[in-house]
Amino acid sequence: MASIAAVEHDVADLSLASEGERLIGWAGQQMPVLRIIRERFEREQPLRGQRIGACLHVTSETANLMITLKAGGADIRLCASNPLSTQDPIAAALTRSYGVPTFAIKGEDSATYYGHIQSVLDLKPQLTMDDGADLVAELHKGRTELLEGVLAGTEETTTGVIRLRAMAADGALRFPIIAVNEALTKHLFDNRYGTGQSTIDGLIRATNILLAGRTVVICGYGWCGRGLASRASGMGAHVIVTEVDPTRALEAVMDGYRVMRLVDAAPEADVVITVTGDINVIDRVHMDRFRDGAIIANSGHFNDEINLPVLDEISSEVTQPRPFVQSHRLRDGRTLHVLAEGRLLNLAAAEGHPATVMDMSFANQALCAEYVAQHHGELSPTVHEVPERIDREVAQLKLEAMGIAIDVLTDEQQRYLASWESGTR
Ligand SMILES: NC(=O)c1ccc[n+]([C@@H]2O[C@H](COP(=O)([O-])OP(=O)(O)OC[C@H]3O[C@@H](n4cnc5c(N)ncnc54)[C@H](O)[C@@H]3O)[C@@H](O)[C@H]2O)c1
Repeated sequence: MASIAAVEHDVADLSLASEGERLIGWAGQQMPVLRIIRERFEREQPLRGQRIGACLHVTSETANLMITLKAGGADIRLCASNPLSTQDPIAAALTRSYGVPTFAIKGEDSATYYGHIQSVLDLKPQLTMDDGADLVAELHKGRTELLEGVLAGTEETTTGVIRLRAMAADGALRFPIIAVNEALTKHLFDNRYGTGQSTIDGLIRATNILLAGRTVVICGYGWCGRGLASRASGMGAHVIVTEVDPTRALEAVMDGYRVMRLVDAAPEADVVITVTGDINVIDRVHMDRFRDGAIIANSGHFNDEINLPVLDEISSEVTQPRPFVQSHRLRDGRTLHVLAEGRLLNLAAAEGHPATVMDMSFANQALCAEYVAQHHGELSPTVHEVPERIDREVAQLKLEAMGIAIDVLTDEQQRYLASWESGTR
């Protein structure tokens, strides 16, 4: 891959670019839908002249999305959507080899993280692409002079969609956003199977514990929680689910899990993982009841789900026995192990979702970027669903790429399903 002339960027080490290229190529092999879209984008150039500001986890799968958008004619800058999720070789390769100036360093502090968002905004983006809505929030809080030039945006995750809906309800959101997370071909697969598997991967890489026979408490039985519970139980763990939504709690019961309040589950837990998108789900009252040696972690978007300030207050010493494990020795003599500083475990301690599911999530991103570039004028400044035809197209392309054919409705069946006349025979 030819080098691009020096561009403004901030990455850990540009000499990691060749390693990054290999990783991007490996992930690309598992992303056939995005490849089909890229080939069309190369021919049709639907994003020609569009400046895109992207704030996403800087992984090999994201790199394949960036390359696709660039193939469609876009001018892009990328920063991280979490200080710990960046893969430095990928940031180097995007910047040096693929002409996508990247501002992301794994482990960057909060000031650098927000500085990098500002560098992306310096591009004066017409389209935004967010994962958690930090880019859009910064734009509306501090860079309001740029708002007039922004046509539309997309949002990748549940937490971002919730924030953006709150902005829209306040009348604060100034441009339309497509909630990519809400596409069926996103959350049914990415949140469920992707977060499920990769969170277990992060747990094992960080600790190397055996799951069989352990009690794993999962807080939140949404899309991520369902996947995580089924993967943990598939590896032999005794899974307990905690919830605040009665329907979801009931679903967990019928799926075969024990359901109880976290305060009751705490004394039994070997591992507790939050995936709620909520704040202080693990709080002092729970910490007081965990057994010595309990492991606590989070795979929800923000590092708010575990009340870490309160844990610091009740700790007499913090040590780091392994990367991504912080052992808090409490004043009462117990030790609680926190993984990845309470940040998304699957991205901090492992590599995030497998490319196979990101293929669908990012196919939605690419097609939604094309859609908003063409239709922004027709969209009001609020949060919009992914058009159903895009969702179906992604599913159809994925099935074709997997070599799976499905039945199609006959004319008779279409008429039957659309009619009300025929009943019991
Ligand atoms: N780690 C990743 O790679 C990744 C991927 C996708 C989504 N996410 C994030 O994971 C979080 C969950 O996403 P989701 O799609 O599963 O959302 P969801 O809305 O489908 O599920 C969240 C569940 O948590 C429950 N909940 C809320 N507060 C709770 C509490 N105090 N105790 C117990 N349960 C509680 C809710 O009732 C809901 O059922 C979000 O922050 C999302 O952005 C992370």
